[in-house]
Amino acid sequence: MSNIVVLGTQWGDEGKGKIVDLLTPSFDVVARYQGGHNAGHTVHVRGAKIVLHLIPSGILHPGTLCVIGNGVVLDPKAFLEEIEVLKKAADIRPDNIAVSACAHLIFPYHRLVEKFSEESLGERKIGTTCRGIGPAYEDKAARRGIRAGDLLDLDVLKEKITANVGEKNAFFLRHGLPELSAQAIYEEYAGYAAAMRSYIQDVSRLLDDKIMSGSSVLFEGAQGALLDVDHGTYPFVTSSNSTAGGACTGLGVGPTKIDAVLGVTKAYTTRVGAGPFPTEILDETGKIIGKRGDEFGATTGRPRRCGWFDAVAVTYACRINGIEKVAITKPDVLDGFEEIQVCTAYKYKGSVLRGFPAESWILDKVTPEYRRVPGWKQPVHGAKEWADLPQAFKDYLRLLEDLTETQAVLVSTGVERNATVLWDEALEGLLDLAAIRQNGRPRS
Ligand code: GDP
Ligand code: IMO
Ligand code: MG
Repeated sequence: MSNIVVLGTQWGDEGKGKIVDLLTPSFDVVARYQGGHNAGHTVHVRGAKIVLHLIPSGILHPGTLCVIGNGVVLDPKAFLEEIEVLKKAADIRPDNIAVSACAHLIFPYHRLVEKFSEESLGERKIGTTCRGIGPAYEDKAARRGIRAGDLLDLDVLKEKITANVGEKNAFFLRHGLPELSAQAIYEEYAGYAAAMRSYIQDVSRLLDDKIMSGSSVLFEGAQGALLDVDHGTYPFVTSSNSTAGGACTGLGVGPTKIDAVLGVTKAYTTRVGAGPFPTEILDETGKIIGKRGDEFGATTGRPRRCGWFDAVAVTYACRINGIEKVAITKPDVLDGFEEIQVCTAYKYKGSVLRGFPAESWILDKVTPEYRRVPGWKQPVHGAKEWADLPQAFKDYLRLLEDLTETQAVLVSTGVERNATVLWDEALEGLLDLAAIRQNGRPRS
């Protein structure tokens, strides 16, 4: 079977967790390539809800190797806590989770720097998850970061923590903030080192060995393409490359090893935090979508901003990721709407723009052009077959496909694995459909 990247085509929370969990039986390995515990990926398995932050969403399948790449920033405390939570739901052993020795670590000073930076920005704040993600990537780029591999030698760890805390304390002092104790942080992290040791590996080599011996890999994106630090709505973005290229740099895997990129696309749009959002619905309809879609951040609990489907944004996301096939999620949230709107173009200063503008300050001022389409009377919620879907929904789907020049190969119609419609012909050769189907439908 193929190696594929699965990533979100909007501003995150497209339902990647559900899709990755659903598709995992077709793969031997699931590998996260960027972000950190800013992500919140929700998976429902037979009534139980599990939210994954750092550990790949394939973990609920026994026998699947779950890999965390060098492109991820890892908070060891969050990682070890997540393992403890998951032990109740999954068979967690050090040989089914691998963490790259080159993954940068998050320290308590990263969260403090971020809090200070967000507060200083006042009304211009990004609305980050305050998990220390951005400052950890800053230290990585500044070449002073501390990596998972540094946990393997406590003398090296101590030296690096002392140097970093020294620099950060100078910053805290300048801004009238309390200083931190390097010794206390060292002791805390030396404790994590003992627990982390068995997970730390050369992930690039591990994946190469797996791929060369015929194993298939699902590369799991976190956040969404429009939150990518280079291609997203900068500066209202996260600090990593959530786009498909991040799978190569974030795991040490060459592009020739990747066969396809599957986009996960919500049937409408949401965004958490600040930043331009052309199709945001500010009236009661937005609130109704938020309520029906349970649109509250899986990490911070913040209400997500809701809006209509934005074909300009999704077309752009598909172009920069080479996406030809998409999984459409959450159309059931629109069940019962009399009329649904889809943004087909942006107008700026009286002219229609050619595509998605690179400048956030332009995106902030565009006027979306909408196509109004009738809603569907019969619900799509829980549908499992194409025949179960109402014609008006099929027309909506065709419109999204035409506007974004993609093919919808899967429709998710609810939170559970088996609330899914799969298109066999379009997925043939890409996925092991029999394995996925068996997984979706309880065996007994
Ligand atoms: P992720 O970050 O992309 O993994 O998405 P989140 O887990 O943050 O948010 C998606 C939410 O939608 C979760 O609560 C999922 O359980 C839920 N969800 C996923 N697919 C569907 C679907 O097809 N229908 C409905 N109603 N909910 C879904
Ligand atoms: P998943 O993987 C939605 C947003 C934050 C903020 C911006 C920067 O669940 O889709 P950060 O803490 O990353 O520096 O915050 O990015 N953000 C997300 N929004 N889903 C996510 O992850 C997100 N991860 C970060 O709200 O606007
Ligand atoms: Mg999420």
